[in-house]
Amino acid sequence: MSSVLTARARDLDADHAGTDLRSRFVLPEGVVYLDGNSLGALPTGVADAVADVVHRQWGERLIASWNEADWWGAPTRVGDRVGALVGAAPGQVVCTDSTTVNLFKVVVAAARMRPGRRVVLTDPASFPTDLYVTAAAARDTGLVVEHVSPADAPARIAELGDDLALASYSSVDYRTGELWDLPAVTRAAHAVGALVCWDLCHSAGVLPVDLDAHEVDLAVGCGYKYLNGGPGAPAYLYVAQRHQNAFDQPLSGWNGHATPFAMAPEFAPAAGIARGRVGTPPLLSMLALEAALAAYDDVDVADLRARSLSLTGYFLECLDTLLPDLEVATPRDDARRGSQVSIRHEGAYGVVQALIARGVVGDFREADIVRLGFSPMYLTHADVLRAAEELVAVLDGGEHERPEFAERAQVT
Ligand SMILES: Cc1ncc(COP(=O)(O)O)c(C=O)c1O
Repeated sequence: MSSVLTARARDLDADHAGTDLRSRFVLPEGVVYLDGNSLGALPTGVADAVADVVHRQWGERLIASWNEADWWGAPTRVGDRVGALVGAAPGQVVCTDSTTVNLFKVVVAAARMRPGRRVVLTDPASFPTDLYVTAAAARDTGLVVEHVSPADAPARIAELGDDLALASYSSVDYRTGELWDLPAVTRAAHAVGALVCWDLCHSAGVLPVDLDAHEVDLAVGCGYKYLNGGPGAPAYLYVAQRHQNAFDQPLSGWNGHATPFAMAPEFAPAAGIARGRVGTPPLLSMLALEAALAAYDDVDVADLRARSLSLTGYFLECLDTLLPDLEVATPRDDARRGSQVSIRHEGAYGVVQALIARGVVGDFREADIVRLGFSPMYLTHADVLRAAEELVAVLDGGEHERPEFAERAQVT
């Protein structure tokens, strides 16, 4: 059976040769990296770009680089580059802060943009920071948080009507990899005059999001997953052009001021998306992200999506053949699958550790999820088959039950 799968991997890799971008990344030999949805791999140009920023721009040119290298303009310049990957025309995305902080800005701003409306709707299965910060922003603005799955959101939105201020959802579930119906939830919110915000952490860079085309109002996301910006890379914030004048975000800082160097005692927000900025950005990380995004030069996200679906679809095929009893938590329907396959297993933590010991790197998510992310840029179908075969070896050999794989690390 494995020889059939091997031949199929070879054929699929030949079919998708045009989107094999592995040469744009530095990856350790022998590793199948299935954790690009946690920390993306290192693109080849980043180390030299960062060395130039450190040695020349900072070391030699010192303060002059704020103007000469346009450090000041980096958040909106890099924002436009991210915008191109999520279907946002220039001038609507700024790279700044963390996803958490940007979501706080969004929820408070949405409350102010929809005065008199009471409810913010979100998914109870959201990544926890989204739940925490939505609750915090709601507390500060008097909104009430209601938890409803994205699948049930359109119906609930219609019931809430003009009580709803904001529907705030992740486009892909971080745990199961389910891709939600962004256009349907967005349309439902607009039908009652509410706003939507989408957390794009698990979709940007691997599937078309088309923010402008779907008339999304607000969005947030991080730079360190599929965008490969590096550990702690700055996040981004999208505010559709039509809302920017009304986007009154709560963290008034000098970087978001209309005239930052006038040193005025009163705050006046910058025109456009720059009002999403707060304080001085971490430029080493910002410029590492900018260099990393060069890996996307000449790449069409729709082509990456086709490759991603082929990789995850083929992985499901391998599991069906080699491990038919395994419980898959990710939808099999292409239209409902992000760029990840999650497996439920009672020994999930040990399974992940045993896989890592065999060179297949994924991660564990509570309570029982083996989470495998498939970055289409640097993975092949041959890698996918290897991952499935190593999983068979782990489970057949009971390797996941070894005591050394039970010890929980700080980061799982
Ligand atoms: C959906 C989602 N939102 C937010 C975050 C994290 O936010 P932050 O960039 O503030 O750490 C994650 C991290 O994994 C995530 O998966």
